[in-house]
Amino acid sequence: MAAQGVFISFEGIDGSGKSTQARLLADHLRAAGRQVVATREPGGAPGAEEIRRLLLEGAPDRWSAETEILLFTAARRDHLERTIAPALAAGRIVVSDRFVDSTRVYQGITRGDLRDKVDALHSLMIGREADLTFIIDMDPGLGLSRARGRNGHEERFEDFGEPMQRQMRDGFLALAREFPDRCVVIDGNRAMDAVAAEVAQITDRHLR
Ligand code: ADP
Ligand code: TYD
Repeated sequence: MAAQGVFISFEGIDGSGKSTQARLLADHLRAAGRQVVATREPGGAPGAEEIRRLLLEGAPDRWSAETEILLFTAARRDHLERTIAPALAAGRIVVSDRFVDSTRVYQGITRGDLRDKVDALHSLMIGREADLTFIIDMDPGLGLSRARGRNGHEERFEDFGEPMQRQMRDGFLALAREFPDRCVVIDGNRAMDAVAAEVAQITDRHLR
């Protein structure tokens, strides 16, 4: 039988510490001798990274929520074909900073109820979930101030304000209740190392 890897995703509001924790988990797994592919969305493959620029740069009203669903799913399809599926087929562990749960929350609930459209397109074009999803839960005010502390061009989604951050946080917690078999909520309001230790312990248990 072909080797089959494990697909782990990190989700949560902007500034919750996903990128930090994804990197620390990849380091932990590599130190244990595992083969890891660390990746991110939107992006994670050359074509998907081009779509990332279309999505994250420019005016906040550049795209409608519906067009965003199509663009994020197009980027995800490229990411799946070029990066995720080959790595899993080779038996590697894929650690992705965001996956479809971000589309379910950002495009699915923040500008009207578009969740059915997100799910329909996902089942048509992607057709798989992560095996294990860490939802890094975080006080929305703290997340916003952490995210704003970074400078860059990718600010299309960072002008949400605290009420929207709160709505998104609730959206991620609702997804954790909806998908209890794969989702684990992690308290992100702690020191990085404490968060990383819990993530590593849960991952090690999953891999055994
Ligand atoms: P995300 O990918 O969820 O947007 P990042 O991992 O980029 O979050 O973290 C956002 C900012 O907060 C970064 O400057 C990072 O160094 C910092 N940070 C991440 N985790 C913690 C933590 N547990 N405590 C304090 N600061 C943190
Ligand atoms: P990311 O680079 O992970 O930003 P951050 O480190 O601030 O969390 O993601 C960029 C933005 O894209 C982020 O604001 C969330 C948004 N996004 C969506 O709206 N839908 C999606 O499907 C994905 C993957 C990201």
